[in-house]
Amino acid sequence: MTATMPALPTPGPAPTRPVAAALDLVKVYGSDKTRVVALDHVTVEFGRGTFTAIMGPSGSGKSTLMHCLAGLDRITAGRVFLGDHELNALSDKELTRVRRDRVGFVFQAFNLLPTLTARQNIVLPLDLAGRKPDPTHFDQVVASLGLGDRLDHRPSELSGGQQQRVAIARALITKPDVIFADEPTGALDSKNGLALLAYLQACVRDLGQTIIMVTHDAKAAAHADRALVLFDGRIVDDIGRPSVESVNAALARLDA
Ligand SMILES: Nc1ncnc2c1ncn2[C@@H]1O[C@H](COP(=O)(O)OP(=O)(O)OP(=O)(O)O)[C@@H](O)[C@H]1O
Ligand SMILES: [Mg+2]
Repeated sequence: MTATMPALPTPGPAPTRPVAAALDLVKVYGSDKTRVVALDHVTVEFGRGTFTAIMGPSGSGKSTLMHCLAGLDRITAGRVFLGDHELNALSDKELTRVRRDRVGFVFQAFNLLPTLTARQNIVLPLDLAGRKPDPTHFDQVVASLGLGDRLDHRPSELSGGQQQRVAIARALITKPDVIFADEPTGALDSKNGLALLAYLQACVRDLGQTIIMVTHDAKAAAHADRALVLFDGRIVDDIGRPSVESVNAALARLDA
């Protein structure tokens, strides 16, 4: 007679929580006559190590969604999660800390500090956190963005594309879990734009970072693993493995 051993519990795949998520997210600006529903019940999840493009017409809510997911803006209703943290349940102080530790944000309008040099702007998030830059990582970020010879200049002495690259370096320098980039290729020439997209893909592949990128460019969106399309504050399309053709077709459906 053979005794049967009780089966050991086999460890299944570790449950992977999304890195960022919104549940029934509503964001309303203004009141009465100036009332704008910028996000209208948005539910979406972003997995670790994924690269998502967010597309849609001007005013459809792309920047608002990014700001709410990153905890830069308070929401009107619903829930927003960043890793294990429910952002709407945090105090301002806790929110600032979570944001500082986990998020890199490239603003549509760059938001560089005019009195600081490029180098000082890039390391600012580390300075604020009382941390020193890892020199190897700093050199790598600066070199990959082609900023090596502009580090001692102030934003007013840089071209638009160079300012945009400084803003990107500032978002990457802390090695955040999630990088939010609002039209990061908008001011770049095609060579620098392609180099940036390749670098972002490498961040996902090699470091497991999660990237959420707003773009109006179907070619840029085709570098992502997924493209979401917003219209009037709602997600109207969710495209896996987007191509220039599938993205353009989705945008054309909006006009129809
Ligand atoms: N601070 C604000 N106060 C009032 N309304 C706002 C504010 N920010 C955005 N809105 C409005 O919310 C809506 C969504 O704006 P949002 O900036 O998210 O659009 P977007 O998709 O990023 O557009 P774009 O492609 O032009 O950057 C728009 O109608 C906009 O006018
Ligand atoms: Mg915007």
